[in-house]
Amino acid sequence: MATLADSLRTELRDLRPGARLPSSRTLVDRYRVSPVTVTRAIGLLAAEGLVVTRPGAGVYAADRPGPSAGPPDLGWQAVALGDRAVDAGAIGWLLKAPPDGVVPLSGGYLHADLQPARALAAAMGRAARRPRAWDMPPPSGLAQLRAWFARIAGPDVTPGDVTVTAGGQQSLSTVLRAVLAPGAPLLVESPTYPGALAVARMIGLQPVPVPIDGEGLRPGLLAEAFALTGARAVYCQPAFQNPTGAAMGAERRARVLDVARAAGAFVIEDDYARHLAIDAAPPPLVAQDADGRVVHIASPTKVVAPSLRVSAVIARGPVAERIRAAQLVTDFFPARPLQETLLDLVSSPGWARHVGAVRTALRARRDTLLAALAGELPQLAPSRPDGGVHLWTPLPGGADDTAAAEAALRAGVLVSAGRPFFPAEPPGPHLRLSYCSAASDGELVEGVRRLARVLDEP
Ligand SMILES: Cc1ncc(COP(=O)(O)O)c(C=O)c1O
Repeated sequence: MATLADSLRTELRDLRPGARLPSSRTLVDRYRVSPVTVTRAIGLLAAEGLVVTRPGAGVYAADRPGPSAGPPDLGWQAVALGDRAVDAGAIGWLLKAPPDGVVPLSGGYLHADLQPARALAAAMGRAARRPRAWDMPPPSGLAQLRAWFARIAGPDVTPGDVTVTAGGQQSLSTVLRAVLAPGAPLLVESPTYPGALAVARMIGLQPVPVPIDGEGLRPGLLAEAFALTGARAVYCQPAFQNPTGAAMGAERRARVLDVARAAGAFVIEDDYARHLAIDAAPPPLVAQDADGRVVHIASPTKVVAPSLRVSAVIARGPVAERIRAAQLVTDFFPARPLQETLLDLVSSPGWARHVGAVRTALRARRDTLLAALAGELPQLAPSRPDGGVHLWTPLPGGADDTAAAEAALRAGVLVSAGRPFFPAEPPGPHLRLSYCSAASDGELVEGVRRLARVLDEP
């Protein structure tokens, strides 16, 4: 189709505006393509403004715009916008599509072969045919979808506590804006998910690092940080933290809640990896929440596909009202056909099978990546997470992780430097290596070989 469109663009250069293009049948014969290809190519040229289609009459060369006066002078914008830059650099790297031939050991979404593509297509087909599919959903989301999110979160969570949102990232932005005023401190795990840091900074919050250990937030340091800053919220990922894979045990969860209670603060729980446990996932904090302290974000994109942008925020009391209001003001509601699609998918008999298959695949991939690292890079000491999709490893002292990630990309493997995961100065260089986005176990091994060549360089 692209080739035909290119040929037609060349033909159009010799046609005066208003001249008729050859008929579809002539184009089919001349270029030996199907009528569908012709229709698509004409559609593309029409979208570009190069042709005008007149139903029943044919396709005509469009009027050409007058000669351009050169690139516009946009200098005035720098003055008008001031210095309030939005830094999406770290997110851009995390979402970076690997160039051809590059092995992705970065990124938090499943490789296309692990996504339930056929089930999604069927679910979306059914969703789109449902009566009123394109109408407004209830403002807090489809009732049955709210019930599903509530059931996953815990026995005491009710559908009334759930607001359906448009992906974990949008939920973070809505929740942080609803809970905290610009300028407020926000305690965060250090290291943490750079997407959360980017949202916090964009809306004028001050992320304050709280170091973690193998079980996540350290309660003593958390209490100190609350006392020092007067913060009214902490953002954390209690299950398979991105990037370290740390998971809070029962005692740690209780202590973190106690510390937040004593500080009169909210705990914003990003439960991004609920379905990615290799054995069992710890129960979410919200399941233990007795006083509306936890604001829980649940997003199934990680176990399904990045474009299924439907998620949920679970909260109780005035904060829930605030979050609902914030979502209505900024986004209205997530697209109903996507809500219907997710509902159909998770209600289908294949859902449990899909989640099980992903967990099995992730276990094998984690083990393959760890074995390859032990063989090729024994000087590293990567984490061995029980869920999620990332390994986290310190680099030997003196290394520059940003330079290492750039060199690795040149050598054909995409990895994430540790620096953007730290809200302030990192304690040392690190890399995050993901095992979900490569095409196969073989590709993981090849990625490690390429990384070893870079890291072993003197
Ligand atoms: C910890 C964490 N939270 C939230 C997100 C946002 O994901 P999504 O918007 O697809 O739900 C990500 C994505 O990488 C993540 O790693």
